Amino acid sequence: MKWLILALVCLQLSEGLVRVRLRKGKSMRELMKDKGVLEDFLKQHKHDRGRKYHFNEYNIAHESIANYLDSFYFGEITIGTPPQTFLVLFDTGSSNLWVPSTYCQTQACSNHVRFNPTQSSTYSAIGNNYTLPYGFGEVDVTLGSDTVTIQNVVVTNQVFGLTGYEPTSPFYYTYFDGILGMAYPDLAIPGYYSLMQNLLRQDQLTEPIFSFYFSRKPTYYYGGEVILGGVDSQLYSGEIMWAPVIQEVYWKIAIEEFSIGQTTTSWCSQGCQGIVDTGTFQLTVPEQYIGELLQAVGVPENSDYWEVDCNNIQNMPILTFSVNGNQLSLPPTVYVLNDQDVCYIGVETTYVNSQNGQPVWILGNVFLRQYYSVFDIANNRVGFALSTSTN
Ligand SMILES: *[C@@H]1O[C@H](CO)[C@@H](O)[C@H](O)[C@H]1NC(C)=O
Repeated sequence: MKWLILALVCLQLSEGLVRVRLRKGKSMRELMKDKGVLEDFLKQHKHDRGRKYHFNEYNIAHESIANYLDSFYFGEITIGTPPQTFLVLFDTGSSNLWVPSTYCQTQACSNHVRFNPTQSSTYSAIGNNYTLPYGFGEVDVTLGSDTVTIQNVVVTNQVFGLTGYEPTSPFYYTYFDGILGMAYPDLAIPGYYSLMQNLLRQDQLTEPIFSFYFSRKPTYYYGGEVILGGVDSQLYSGEIMWAPVIQEVYWKIAIEEFSIGQTTTSWCSQGCQGIVDTGTFQLTVPEQYIGELLQAVGVPENSDYWEVDCNNIQNMPILTFSVNGNQLSLPPTVYVLNDQDVCYIGVETTYVNSQNGQPVWILGNVFLRQYYSVFDIANNRVGFALSTSTN
């Protein structure tokens, strides 16, 4: 009897979970290489490289383009009646939902699926216009509301942005059409419920939790999963290690210590912060420490791409974050990326400012491929467990 009840409970739980399979396209770097623009780009930006971080500079003059030469993980949603289908970046580092629309005529938009409001019987215009800034560029949107579905989850009257303008760089190159923000409402356009809020308000989740699994061997058709309403214990091993959210804007947690190999650095002696961000590809490092980190992991000075020797990876140090008393380690096989036998490290300079002076790290996909991540809305905490992707 006990077993039967347990089995029923399990059945119910697994039925309540909504699973979106994520995909991953080629990296921007690969795309540019294919189009033959990488060489030109590097030539043009040669002197920027002395300024450390060449990949940042492409076209948008801002330190902040963290990651768009590498690629993101994205999944499918629909908007409208009948449904129009979009690939969106499931982004825990922002809070708005937007997709390209027929109001937008730029190349970036015509290269993607565009929402056509006149083709949806459930659409209503709201009409306010906004500019949404991202680390890698910004888009102009006008607001409307419509039905949004993610697998079997249905949210009605969801306010979202229809783009009126998207710049070529980076959006022409992205595999995803739009972005679905999953951070706190404080980061969203004020006055409207975010999709996450509506998921809860409209009682669409078994539990107020979502979780991410990123494969380390992604293909275009399978890059990982986002699970809405719970966790999938098949996708991680061991216990989930929890850390409280320290500021309910981003999914931001405290980092107590950072070690390189056996050496504990003093970088976090006044405390560090970590933003758990599925929409950033790299691990980003506080600007004042990036030079030291590169040196410590053995990136040669003047290295063009922060390249390392593919045959020497096993001799590179493990990086360890101490989070709420737990040790979260990244072996070099995780933070070193390999693009057609060119190895380079998957780190970047942090582009968000610290509010209180504590160094800020962004725990992006490079980190999250090692750790399955759980976002617990009710308890304001983030959990990490060793991803089965490491097997
Ligand atoms: C708002 O954006 C829409 C769509 O791009 C555009 O048609 C409209 O002119 C904009 N309104 C204002 C006041 O800028």
